[in-house]
Amino acid sequence: MALLSVLTPVLVLVLCLVVGILFLKSRAPETSPRGADQAKEPAKKDFRPWVDQDLHDDTEITTEGGDEDEWVEQDEEKDLAHVPYSPRRYPEEIMLQRSKEFYSLMNQRRSVRFISPEPVPQEIIDNIILTAGTAPSGAHTEPWTFIVVSDLETKHQIRLIVEEEEEVNYRQRMGDKWVHDLARLRTNWIKEYLDVAPYLILVFKRAYGILPNGKKKTHYYNEISVSISCGILLAALQNVGLVTVTTTPLNCGPRLRLLLKRPANEKLLMLLPVGYPAADATVPDLKRKHLEEIMVPI
Ligand SMILES: Cc1cc2nc3c(=O)[nH]c(=O)nc-3n(C[C@H](O)[C@H](O)[C@H](O)COP(=O)(O)O)c2cc1C
Repeated sequence: MALLSVLTPVLVLVLCLVVGILFLKSRAPETSPRGADQAKEPAKKDFRPWVDQDLHDDTEITTEGGDEDEWVEQDEEKDLAHVPYSPRRYPEEIMLQRSKEFYSLMNQRRSVRFISPEPVPQEIIDNIILTAGTAPSGAHTEPWTFIVVSDLETKHQIRLIVEEEEEVNYRQRMGDKWVHDLARLRTNWIKEYLDVAPYLILVFKRAYGILPNGKKKTHYYNEISVSISCGILLAALQNVGLVTVTTTPLNCGPRLRLLLKRPANEKLLMLLPVGYPAADATVPDLKRKHLEEIMVPI
């Protein structure tokens, strides 16, 4: 008993030391000298945020080499002539009328998950893709590929992949909150429209370009550029009375890229089933925000 009372202060001291060491270790990265931190970081010169971040998205299957010599320098490219530009100018009252009409057209756009199998002429789809290709892009790199699938078997293969992954997404990957947020839209992993819609448009972003000489070309802001082109594509569909639902099937990118035999620099961004709405199509009764909620005049 006497021995224990003598040892107690020693034990407390040892315990304090252990806790102190553990605490200091847990804070070590914040308190280590700046030079040590820098040694762990990639050299600033080699860091291309608009490329590297895209390459490390979850659609990546193969690892790409990071050799600087593989990339083309901007000044290797040709200079461009500049030409006059004078688009049509409208009187203000016509501008007002056109702005209202276009808003009214676009305000009728809805994501439609019930699509008719009725055929749509290919030439209309061609024009819609051409329209999407008018989008602005970082340094005019046009980093998009639109795969237009009408082949029945390929559509079915796409459906099998998407449904298999989506079931895992809904049951495991998305989490309760996400699944709960989607419940009111009545979406789930069954995607009948992938078989039924006359066209599936799979939009790939080209994370970087590959030139004829095999060198890689930086595609600045490629995801933003392709997203803008998708917005224009949606407007072009709406303009001719066709419908789609914007989908970004989580974790399906690599398998769909391989199915469609696309190169490793292409990453799936969106999957758009396209056609006429089914005769009995319904949509959730959503409301859109008012102007005051989305615009801040200063
Ligand atoms: C980036 C993005 C991803 C989306 N992904 C899905 C999806 O995977 N499945 C789906 O049914 N709808 C998807 N939607 C559609 C939205 O649910 C829909 O746009 C939203 O509910 C508003 O409805 P509205 O398009 O009819 O205005 C997506 C929309 C966007 C913009």
